[in-house]
Amino acid sequence: MYEKNVERIEEIVREQNSWRMETINLIASENVLSRRARAVMGSDFCHRYAEGHPGERYYQGTEKIDEIETRAKQHLKSLFNCRHLDVRPVSGTVANDAVFSRYIRPGDIVMVNSTAGGGHISHHKSGSVGKYTSNIINFPLTPDGFHIDVAHTLDILERVPVKVLILGKSLYLFPDPVKELAPLCKERGIILIYDAAHVLGLIAGKRFHDPLGEGAHIITASTHKTFFGSQRGIAFSNMKDSEWALIDKGAFPGSSSNHHLDTLVPLAITAYEYLEFGEDYADQVIRNAKALARALYDAGFNVQAAQFGFTESHQVAVDVSELGGGDEVARILKDNHIILNMNLLPHEPLERVANPAGIRIGVQEMTRFGMKEAEMKVIAELFKKCLRQGKYMGDEVKDFRRQYQIVFYSFDEDAIAARRPKAVEAAQS
Ligand SMILES: Cc1ncc(COP(=O)(O)O)c(C=O)c1O
Repeated sequence: MYEKNVERIEEIVREQNSWRMETINLIASENVLSRRARAVMGSDFCHRYAEGHPGERYYQGTEKIDEIETRAKQHLKSLFNCRHLDVRPVSGTVANDAVFSRYIRPGDIVMVNSTAGGGHISHHKSGSVGKYTSNIINFPLTPDGFHIDVAHTLDILERVPVKVLILGKSLYLFPDPVKELAPLCKERGIILIYDAAHVLGLIAGKRFHDPLGEGAHIITASTHKTFFGSQRGIAFSNMKDSEWALIDKGAFPGSSSNHHLDTLVPLAITAYEYLEFGEDYADQVIRNAKALARALYDAGFNVQAAQFGFTESHQVAVDVSELGGGDEVARILKDNHIILNMNLLPHEPLERVANPAGIRIGVQEMTRFGMKEAEMKVIAELFKKCLRQGKYMGDEVKDFRRQYQIVFYSFDEDAIAARRPKAVEAAQS
């Protein structure tokens, strides 16, 4: 009786798979797995449980996942140069909650990036932090809105008994000032948490700043935005063992029991891909973001932070209020098979959240598909034709995108073949 419904679900998945390979995806929080990382999903591990740590589980039959988890942790630790690392949080928000629940008590004052300033909802009243305290204050920003005002922040920290700082954000163009704030935090016993959800892949690729090395107490992150792993979360730190034991309990049993083994497996593969190709990838991501920002600016778009070189991350922010606002522009682009999201800009009130002035662009996924600076110019031209000239460019977008189907920066055979110098190929044939 329900067979047809099942067929429809299967059909939707096929449609999604093929449609997404014909779209230019510029959502800043997404990425794609390599073929080999994706191929290990859907194994028997998708049925299994493994609470606790490798070798100390509460279930039998976990030897295989124990080896995978041990390897994933070992190689992620070397990537992030840290003593402690937990791969069990099933998302960035869960990692945040595992950590926030350990440090924030009722009445504590917590300082965060505001929503318009780019902060994530889990740092705010309606998210994870709000479960533990309602005393949430925002970092003051410099007039451009994309940087924390360090002098003003230090002044507040001298006067107000802030317990926890949460740096890192979702609209994230320039590194937050960890090394400027960390010394005072150490002196005052303020816990400095850095949420690297968006920029983990750039940190791992050593092309952003190094928040742990600069003095952050603990890092939380998603593993699937600029870091091109499966959809999960992590936390890592160099803190003392006795303090890490609290975080450990925050991850399990504090915020999850079973930790979704099916998605842990590709994360282990991604760790190796990162060790091999991470720096080249991060380098190209940042070059592409700068190239796209410049090309959009030259095409007459109001690209933000021009005076600072537009961006140091994977993101570009554009004020599109003169074109109908973020909602309208994101819809027009979607109709042309270019996918991104509207975004509040730092100068906007929260009430504008449903139709803000901005759009946020992320270049990391298209970089994975082998696009470079020249392709960023093509994308800027497509924006111009869709948005400034009102042309339908959907067919051109699809034709363009169909030329970029290989996931680079991976051990996939076709990616390796595409990377191989032509002279080597000729010698082998
Ligand atoms: C700064 C920041 N932290 C946390 C998260 C939440 O991550 P997840 O979607 O993995 O729960 C996001 C998501 O976009 C984010 O931007």
